[in-house]
Amino acid sequence: MYRSHNCGELRATHINEEVSLSGWVQIARKFGSITFVDLRDRYGITQLYFNEAMTAQLNENPLGREYVIQAKGKVIERSSKNPKLPTGDIEIEVTEYTILNKSAVPPFTIEEETDGGDELRMKYRYLDLRRPTLRRNLELRYQVNRAARNYLHEQGFMDIETPFLIKSTPEGARDFIVPSRMNEGQFYALPQSPQTFKQLLMVSGYDKYYQVVKCFRDEDLRADRQPEFTQIDCEMSFVEQEDILQTFEGMFKHIFKEIKGLEINDAFPRMTWHESMRDYGNDKPDIRFGMKIQNLKVSNTVHCEALNGVDFKVTNEAESILAICVPNGAEYTRKQTDELTEWVKRPQIGMTGLLFIKCNTDGTYKSSVDKFFDEDRQKAIAESCGAQAGDIILMLAGGEDRTRAAMATLRLEMGERLGLRNPEEFAPLWVLDFPLFEHNEEDNRWYAKHHPFTAPKPEHIELMNDQSRFGEINANAYDIVLNGTEIGGGSIRIYQRELQEKMFAALGMSKEESQEQFGFLLGAFEYGAPPHGGLAFGFDRLCALLGGEESIRDFIAFPKNNSGRDVMLDAPAHVEPKQLDELKLKVNL
Ligand code: AMO
Repeated sequence: MYRSHNCGELRATHINEEVSLSGWVQIARKFGSITFVDLRDRYGITQLYFNEAMTAQLNENPLGREYVIQAKGKVIERSSKNPKLPTGDIEIEVTEYTILNKSAVPPFTIEEETDGGDELRMKYRYLDLRRPTLRRNLELRYQVNRAARNYLHEQGFMDIETPFLIKSTPEGARDFIVPSRMNEGQFYALPQSPQTFKQLLMVSGYDKYYQVVKCFRDEDLRADRQPEFTQIDCEMSFVEQEDILQTFEGMFKHIFKEIKGLEINDAFPRMTWHESMRDYGNDKPDIRFGMKIQNLKVSNTVHCEALNGVDFKVTNEAESILAICVPNGAEYTRKQTDELTEWVKRPQIGMTGLLFIKCNTDGTYKSSVDKFFDEDRQKAIAESCGAQAGDIILMLAGGEDRTRAAMATLRLEMGERLGLRNPEEFAPLWVLDFPLFEHNEEDNRWYAKHHPFTAPKPEHIELMNDQSRFGEINANAYDIVLNGTEIGGGSIRIYQRELQEKMFAALGMSKEESQEQFGFLLGAFEYGAPPHGGLAFGFDRLCALLGGEESIRDFIAFPKNNSGRDVMLDAPAHVEPKQLDELKLKVNL
């Protein structure tokens, strides 16, 4: 028997018991003729005490960091207790120990905080995973998984697996493709999501489906994106949007309660996509703080009278002028406002400059554009932004899309700087009524904003006959947003062949193309497809947020780096010429 207890288990109540523990040597500290060893496993750390005789044995048979050992001995009371450790009242007086396996010197310290850089930790991920921080993250992930599954099970949902080798279809991101040996020159694709399968399951009558499932997308990576990630994917039949929102708000509340002990009784706030864009500049608002965007001028329509009749090219020529009112910003120094100006000029933000109005506590106003805006005008602008004495109004002027995106980022940055984005505060909300289509200027085409299976609002179906009005069509689509991150999205689906064909046509697909790519779905819609809808949650993102972080990487056991590489496996990698021959493939580099 390797162990009678684990390393996080023993307490004062165990004193005088003979025990055996197995684990990893975190550190061995020698004090003259005696030695203390911190023994670690998944459950915690227990101190081992080696008396003089045992320390003599250690000298013969020394322990290094990360050695795997078994130690036997008696639980004794510690003379100097460690209140920080759950096992801190006791130690084991070792009478016998065995080295089960030696370890090379680890490339970084395996403690709460480590000195290993990102790449190094990724290369030795199996060592990094020994650190308590990552262990807690994976434990949290498992708990969230269980809580979600329990809830869905209670609600009558059934977990059904769907295939990973499927057909490449345009769904938004690029597909990962897999060559088929048995079907020369042909390829599978890895699913970006099980979207069409879950819809087919609805046609088959499995009216409440879920799956905790891997999805694969070949897209550029960010802190909250991985090429393979996990969704809690759900679909229901005979439901309207409201049924879905209720069901999954329930799941969220259940998860918050189980994981965070948070009892949320109120309904989640709801906002339309248009409201979100107007007030927060994007479709995933962080509503932990206000500082809403003030729309002084939007797409050449002036909403703030004080901007009119001023001889200032920047504001006159800008398509849009947006502002936020930052509390207590009037005290910013020149250096601070200069720094903010440089901040918005960074290529990622892309603005040409920043305008500001300080609302001094003595009732005077001071602006970066004093030359053009007299104090009355400054006051009028400040008042239209709801400013209080002591605030600063930050304004951006430029093209509508860029300015709005930049203001959304600036708002988050100011929220961050003011400490308004507390990771222990949770502000979920639904964003509703997304547009059905999105126009792409580059190829002058309409794309599905969510995906091509999303149903338009019934009252907007008519507009699908007129391309010039595509931009006005709203979808029965919704996202769930938590603390400024989109953690889930879904829609009510199209379930009639005719409407689905119309949708494909609107997206520029010929009848033949839609038949070739989605013939299976169109065919299924002819055999009694029920009304249905669903959504999918970004499981990694949800876990990271519940863990108080934005990066999902440390909530995934074996993630990829920013270039999509598994540094530990050194993948992707070249394959043997024989493998390529079998697949009839040539690498043309
Ligand atoms: P969508 O594409 O919005 O919807 O994806 C659902 C959720 O998955 C998460 N997510 C990601 N997480 C990590 N890395 C990624 N690369 C990544 N991409 C997306 C997000 C997102 O909200 N089939 C539809 C759902 C439906 O309509 O039911 C779908 O996949 O949190």
